[in-house]
This record gives sequence, C-alpha cells and structure tokens, in this order.
Amino acid sequence: MTTAAPYVPDLESLDPALDLRAEILRLKRSRNAVILAHYYQEPEIQDLADFVGDSLQLAQQAASTGADVIAFCGVHFMAETAKILNPGKRVVIPDMDAGCSLADRCTGAAFGKWLEQYPEHEVVSYINCSAEVKALSTVICTSSNAVRVVESIPADRKIVFAPDRHLGKWVMQQTGRDMVLWPGFCIVHEQFTAKRVAAMQAQHPGAKLIAHPECDATVSRLADFVGSTAALLRYVKESPAGSFIVATEAGILHQMRKARPDAELIAAPADSGCNCSLCPYMKLNSLEKLCLALRDLQPEILLDEGVRLRALEPVQRMLALG
Ligand code: 13P
Ligand code: SF4
Repeated sequence: MTTAAPYVPDLESLDPALDLRAEILRLKRSRNAVILAHYYQEPEIQDLADFVGDSLQLAQQAASTGADVIAFCGVHFMAETAKILNPGKRVVIPDMDAGCSLADRCTGAAFGKWLEQYPEHEVVSYINCSAEVKALSTVICTSSNAVRVVESIPADRKIVFAPDRHLGKWVMQQTGRDMVLWPGFCIVHEQFTAKRVAAMQAQHPGAKLIAHPECDATVSRLADFVGSTAALLRYVKESPAGSFIVATEAGILHQMRKARPDAELIAAPADSGCNCSLCPYMKLNSLEKLCLALRDLQPEILLDEGVRLRALEPVQRMLALG
C-alpha cells in the first residue's frame, strides 16, 4: 500500500509580483468557495474573508453554506467541525499544523480511557477538541453557548466537561452545576495572570477589563465582563466606556478597533513566553498559504466516516440549542 506524502505548501511557486488579494478572490470565485475566518486571524485574512466570527458563528456558517469549497482560516478543530457538517464539500485549511493546545492534549484514546471512570455521566465537550473526542460526547458547546448547553442537561444527570478546565470552572460558577473536569488549558489564555492584569488595571483605572472564559478564575474574577470572542466584541461595541483591557488573543483587537475607533484598546500582557498574547497556531495561516489552499485544494480535511457520523450527532445537538 502506498501512502500519499503530506501536502507541503510550496510558497516559492507563488510569483512574488502576484496581487495576492486579487488572486485569492479570483480563485474563490472559480472554486465556488467561501472563506471563513476566526477573530484571531491576521487582520489581512479577516479583511478578505466572507465571514469573520467566533467558533459558534463559524460552525453555524459552515452548516448553512451553499459553497462547494470551505477555506477555513482558523485552527484544525474548527475546519474539522466544518467537515463533520459537510461531508460532501471540500474543506481546506491554509496550514494543517494550525492545531490547538486544548485539542492536541486530549486525544481520543486518552479521553476514552479517562471516561471509563464516569460511565453514568453526560459528556459535554468544548468544540476545541478532535472529531474523535466529539464522537465520545453527548453534546458539544462553545464558549458562547456553554452555559446554555450545560443548563439543557437535566439537573439529576452527572456531567463530565472537557477539555478546558478554566471554561468548565466558569460554567460551574454560572450554572451552579457540579462537573468533573478534564484538566486541559489553553497555552495563550493560561499566560494571563491576576498579578499582571491587576497591575494593568491600576495603570488604567477607568478601563473595563474584559476576559475570555479560557482565562484562569483568578483573572476572570477581576473582569468587568467575561465572554466568548463575539461577546467581548459586542460588549466593546455597546459599552459607553472609552477604555478596555482585553484578556484574550490579540487578533480580536482588529474588529474592536474597527467598531470603536474612538476607544483605547489595551491587549492584556501575557506573563511569560513572547509576552504578546498571540496564538501560535492561529498565526500559522497566511494570505500566501490561503492562496495556495484555494489553488491546490490542499491541505484538505479528511475524516473517517464512522467517526464523522458519531461526532455529527453531538454537534447537531449543540446547533439545535443555538
Ligand atoms: P471563541 O469560541 O470565543 O471563538 O474561542 C475560540 C478559541 O479558541 C478561544 O481561544
Ligand atoms: Fe486553542 Fe488557545 Fe489557540 Fe484558542 S487561543 S486556538 S484555545 S491554543
């Protein structure tokens, strides 16, 4: 049996004189493709996309698109969710290595073994997980509907929540439900610490602190508002405040700046690493790689049909809840 070599984007095959934006739009039309982009993508990708959103909005868009090809500018689990929903469409991602620390550190095999301890529990999995983990779940949630999804589970049922322990803890606080938590975390949000964030608050006394629920509880506790990327953007749009400290991946600032050019938007600093609050996986995608993905229809997301069908049910359950 021969195995196809993995696709490697050949950036040198792109003419440096090429007008990348025009070429991407031309390829998009000729492929009948739609470009979906997460808020953490580079501004130039967000500006070219047909739709920019959080992970729930992107899943909803993927579920309703009439395009033949979905070019997913986000990370692997997001593109995989689009494929779960669209087995007949080609789903491509600019860089196949655009993973996620939450999804990558919770393999289907390890999760399945861990779940053996909780045979009676309903399994609520954050969308930041692989198709194999989704296939082991009762229902999927995102950061924008996690509270609603957990509240939809009858009060007498026990719940396992995976793979983000911080989001899980936040949902427990919001709902009063007890849940067993898989001990995962996001390497980007884990870098925000109460000490650094409190120092920023002291420096900017009028600023509202807004945080993603993937942040540690010590950070969320200091926040004026906690919500998904879409909810944080909405808060900035609607708030009368003129200054915001934003504790999530800094890519979201692009849409916030567009919505509130008058406001002071301060990216909360990470406490170690590059000190930049950027997701190294999200930032693997580029306009060049998007152009190649539309030209070559690679790298393509492919799924075992059995896994896809088992993963589809919990994803559809989530979409039905809104
Ligand atoms: P959203 O659900 O807010 O889009 O977040 C996804 C994510 O990966 C956050 O790190
Ligand atoms: Fe995953 Fe964190 Fe990157 Fe979101 S920011 S994609 S949770 S590693």
